[in-house]
Amino acid sequence: MRTQVAIVGAGPAGLMLSHLLRLEGIDSIILENRSREYIESRIRAGLIEQWASDLLVETGVGERMQREGMFHNGVYFAFAGALHYINFRELVGKGITIYGQQEVIKDLVARRLADGGQILFEVADVSVHDLGGKAPKIRFQHAGKQHEIVCDFIGGCDGFHGICRPSIPASALTAYDREYPFNWVGILSESPPPEHELIYSYHDRGFALYTMRSPTLARLYVQCPPDDDIENWPDTRIWQELHARLGGTRPLAEGTMLQKGITTMRSFVLEPMQYGRLFLAGDSAHIQPPTGAKGMNLALADVLVLCRAITKYYRSGNTDLLERYSATCLRRVWKAQRFSWWMTQLFHLDPNHNAFDRRRQLAELDYVTSSQAAARSMAENYTGLPVEA
Ligand code: APR
Ligand code: PHB
Repeated sequence: MRTQVAIVGAGPAGLMLSHLLRLEGIDSIILENRSREYIESRIRAGLIEQWASDLLVETGVGERMQREGMFHNGVYFAFAGALHYINFRELVGKGITIYGQQEVIKDLVARRLADGGQILFEVADVSVHDLGGKAPKIRFQHAGKQHEIVCDFIGGCDGFHGICRPSIPASALTAYDREYPFNWVGILSESPPPEHELIYSYHDRGFALYTMRSPTLARLYVQCPPDDDIENWPDTRIWQELHARLGGTRPLAEGTMLQKGITTMRSFVLEPMQYGRLFLAGDSAHIQPPTGAKGMNLALADVLVLCRAITKYYRSGNTDLLERYSATCLRRVWKAQRFSWWMTQLFHLDPNHNAFDRRRQLAELDYVTSSQAAARSMAENYTGLPVEA
């Protein structure tokens, strides 16, 4: 087999890269180790920054999102028993869209297949070779047979647990990371969310987040200890914490729990995001705690930068954008990391904090929700920083 760009992973990064390349007339093949059913039902966060939802619409994969997604003009911060609204629309003229990541996946898969794109599901034993040369290769098993793809570039879009990052010699990379002394218990509940907008709640019992997937489907999270097991969280305990941490600011309806799980918290960045002709994009190169909801957005930003660089190469033979790929992405990645860390340290009950830190957090919450300058900075970061041209 031969293609221009071979892509490992059919998450938001891999699928969007393939879609953007096709719009430029560039061929790609996606290799995914899971089934189509699996990736289309995997529940992840679902917050899309303004520029990213514009990109989905402009490139013809945003129609269902425009119909079914929930557009938000701002967000609530709850602390000291009251809700405080940060109005993104007034502050920066932008908003965000809530639309499940698996819905974006479904739309991209449908579009790639309708366009004649090749996605090989349930491949096994994927390995990458000759990364330093002009004709890198990918070997894998599919339907019981061994295959090899020869290509010009490899898109390493296989997430945090993929094989692309570990295929790069460790001596060529530097990893930066931080673990947090807490995680989240998350549920999907057949009940209306307590508010039309999202609520981030600061509380002495720990952080809680009230978001949604539709007017009748709530997505709710409570902070839990880092080594906690979901077995320790019977439904009654989750509802009790969700009620308490809303601090009486809104009534909370209970519903049937459709899903329940632990979301882990970690910040991680790998530098550089490239080795020879292997380009890492999305979670394979960086992850962040979900407090800032940046995961899918960073994946989309990386592949937009990568597609522009690859397109320039095929149009003119010029490799300058390819050479700058990692540096261009990392400038934005680090700002998103900074913001995700900032939101995380602002809201969580941290066992390493003392009474001074709790007062400092409250002062900062008060500042962000009462100063236009501080609120505008928060709104600018939350709705998404621009992607460098
Ligand atoms: N071979 C083939 N495919 C693989 C392999 C492998 N060895 N390892 C992982 N994959 C696939 C996974 O099954 C998954 O479908 O790669 C895909 C990676 O997708 P994501 O994990 O969704 O990562 P990414 O596309 O970078 O999107 C980042 O996803 O994890 C969330 O919160 C994160 O929203 C963020 C977004
Ligand atoms: C979600 O809707 O799942 C969500 C929203 C915002 C976050 C995290 C998760 O910060």
